[in-house]
Amino acid sequence: MDDPTPAAAELQFTTPDITFGDGATDRLDDALGRLGVERPLVVTDRGVDEAGVLDAVLDSLPMPAETYYATTEPSTGDFEDLPEQDIDGVVAVGGGSCLDSGKLAALLLVHGGTPVDYVGVDAVPGPIAPLVAVPTTSGTGSQATQTVVVTHEGIKRGISDEYLRPDITLVDPAVTIGLPPRVTARSGFDAFVHALESLTGRDYRWVPDRAITYQGANPLSRPLSRRALHLVHGSLERAVFDGTNRDARRAMSLGSHLAGVAFSNAGLGAIHAIASTVGGMTGRPHGECLAVSLRPGLEYNLPARQREYAAIGRGLGVTIHDDDERAARAFIDEGDRLRKSLGLPGSFAALGLDAGDLDTMVKNTLVQERRLVTNPRTVTEDVGDTLARYLG
Ligand SMILES: [Fe+2]
Repeated sequence: MDDPTPAAAELQFTTPDITFGDGATDRLDDALGRLGVERPLVVTDRGVDEAGVLDAVLDSLPMPAETYYATTEPSTGDFEDLPEQDIDGVVAVGGGSCLDSGKLAALLLVHGGTPVDYVGVDAVPGPIAPLVAVPTTSGTGSQATQTVVVTHEGIKRGISDEYLRPDITLVDPAVTIGLPPRVTARSGFDAFVHALESLTGRDYRWVPDRAITYQGANPLSRPLSRRALHLVHGSLERAVFDGTNRDARRAMSLGSHLAGVAFSNAGLGAIHAIASTVGGMTGRPHGECLAVSLRPGLEYNLPARQREYAAIGRGLGVTIHDDDERAARAFIDEGDRLRKSLGLPGSFAALGLDAGDLDTMVKNTLVQERRLVTNPRTVTEDVGDTLARYLG
């Protein structure tokens, strides 16, 4: 993987059609019209409905629409009761898991079977039903991506395929105004790490050509990642502590979306790989698992990315050190400060892990090829040395 021969000089960049701005959901009718959808299925969950967000989003829909309530986190046993009659498209409304359920519904409506038939990369045989995604949180970026996370026999698995990327996404900051602080903090921290990992990932020229479009950080993705990082870093705390602050909500909506577009093309890295390991072992929310994995992941990658972390720290205004080592350290410390300020957990121990979990953590992290291939430092067994320091 450290072969200095550039593997891919060619770049691709894929994104759904995007409408961004307060009131973007008013375009739902127009979006369905462009896709030729006359009988949509709305996929959401009870929480989104009970918060009153669903009614607000569907307000502009002139046609009757059947609603399918997905479980909070999709699993391969779901969707047996998916209505199929007279459905010609899907509108997914909700947080990341809801949007993932919408992608699965659009997949199963056309190709049948169950989600487990499609686990892995490039297992979707052709186009799925027309899909409009309306995110109601600012975090996962699922509305922009080609991936679904689905639980199968207790383990979180990925389904990645270009056919899963929504056709149209309506990013409306106004629908996030009522989001509770804890949800804002967790999902926003996810967006922060998406921006950071896609910005500082392995350069695309050193990532092998593969079916899935995680190509490594590249000239098309980096400007989006950088902008996303600045937007999220500059607004996340305000959005958490003052949820009705429209400027903060708008910045978070845009930042999290740009981060989703960027990472779905560039890929992520060790922080997400470690966090997925922690998530699988503890069942804790993704945002919390990222919170405890941020510093270990950054420390592990520091030898390969000191200059970049230093530049980011200076760019965000958290350090004025000329010396790269000190500036990079200041940036890592800023990650900790942000995490703490948001009330997110700060250690593996806080999530119930201890030194006895080290071997499993290393093993479960090293198998995540999808994430590790775009990490700036080649991840080997030595990641255990770093993890051990944080396991107490
Ligand atoms: Fe994430």
